[in-house]
Amino acid sequence: MTLRFDILTTFPEMFGQEAPAALGLSIPARARTAGVVEWHAHNIRDWAHNKHDRTDDRPFGGGPGMVMSCQPIWDAVHAVEALDSRPATRILLTPQGAPLNQRTAEDLARAPRLLLIAGHYEGVDERVIEALSPREISIGDYVLSGGELAALVLMDAVIRLLPGALGDDDSALQDSFGPLPTTDPNGEPVDPGLLARLLDEFGIAPDTRLLDCPHFTRPRVWEGREVPEVLLSGDHGAVLRWRLEQALARTKARRPDLL
Ligand code: 6GU
Repeated sequence: MTLRFDILTTFPEMFGQEAPAALGLSIPARARTAGVVEWHAHNIRDWAHNKHDRTDDRPFGGGPGMVMSCQPIWDAVHAVEALDSRPATRILLTPQGAPLNQRTAEDLARAPRLLLIAGHYEGVDERVIEALSPREISIGDYVLSGGELAALVLMDAVIRLLPGALGDDDSALQDSFGPLPTTDPNGEPVDPGLLARLLDEFGIAPDTRLLDCPHFTRPRVWEGREVPEVLLSGDHGAVLRWRLEQALARTKARRPDLL
């Protein structure tokens, strides 16, 4: 029912629940209030039972930066997992991980509990990664100072997919990278025959993830620029066709790798 996140980090203050924290606003905050999600951030330092409560140490073999030690992470994972009887899917946020995408977010949104390990410094001692065998996930091919922002990004992407997280003004189904539309502009189910014919005509496989189409709101003319006529026509079939056409054209132009 409720998805539980536990985050292991040396910066638990980044996971606040109240505004202006990143997840203390907008959809994640509403989802939490609605009881759809809960999250608990834990400081790995609380399990660092050494001289200065250190969670890191110098790398064997030399080189710059520090490496997160095995023992505090190992102990933290087991202590935190024991806080709840639901089994946790372990996830290590690391640039070496599999790139996060919408399908992965949809997959994670079906889990009862996610345990996120946010690495910092140069990395995590490989032996504790092997021993815990977490899923390793990256949010893209660039370097962040730590896994915390990546964990926040993953949490937002997952939370907004949870049943009951979105209000009437939101939509998860018609986003970029989401499944193809199943409802028309009025929220009525799209005629499956019509959708199938359009996909066939455009040569799009039914499981394709496209970029979103352009959107417009009032006024109808702004600074001499008009809204595409078809969107004013009230013809739902024509609107669906136009949106798919636009989404496909954008995907071809900007992200041919998705096709
Ligand atoms: Cl998950 N961690 C760090 N430190 N940098 C990243 C990342 C994760 N994903 C992309 N860059």
